[in-house]
Amino acid sequence: MQPDTQLAASPQIVTRRRRFVGAAIFATLGASALMFLRFFFPRALFEPNTRFRIGYPADFPIGVDTKFQSQYRIWVVRNTEGLFVISAICTHLGCTPDWKAAENKFKCPCHGSGYDSDGVNFEGPAPRPMDRAHVELDPEGQIVVDLARVYKWPKGEPSQFNQPGAILRV
Ligand code: FES
Repeated sequence: MQPDTQLAASPQIVTRRRRFVGAAIFATLGASALMFLRFFFPRALFEPNTRFRIGYPADFPIGVDTKFQSQYRIWVVRNTEGLFVISAICTHLGCTPDWKAAENKFKCPCHGSGYDSDGVNFEGPAPRPMDRAHVELDPEGQIVVDLARVYKWPKGEPSQFNQPGAILRV
């Protein structure tokens, strides 16, 4: 019996088909391996730590200290009542105000809100004082700041600035 020459594939076509199938299998296995490896690199957002040490109370004389503004977005303030940390976020729309030492105030560059050296608003559209971060002393006597815990003074409501943790009486 003669083979049907029209239905039988030539050796070159068979070879091409085998190569194609092999490449498809290789590509599928390669993609699976890449997906497997990707599993070990999750798309996590690594936020900066909200709890950190800033030094000893004696490191901060009376006044506003801006040295942690770019690193942690805070100012450390000492006045006659104690030491506290202001979160450097304007309560209008969240810009970072500038400390104007010559004018003894914080001034927001976005819409002009002004705050006194305690972070209390007195001009511009800011609706309330800037928040204060939780502060405490660690066993070594260093100041630990926790930006995840803030104290507010909402408009028309009592201030939280005298709560324990809002100020260090040091
Ligand atoms: S964001 Fe500060 S005044 Fe608007």
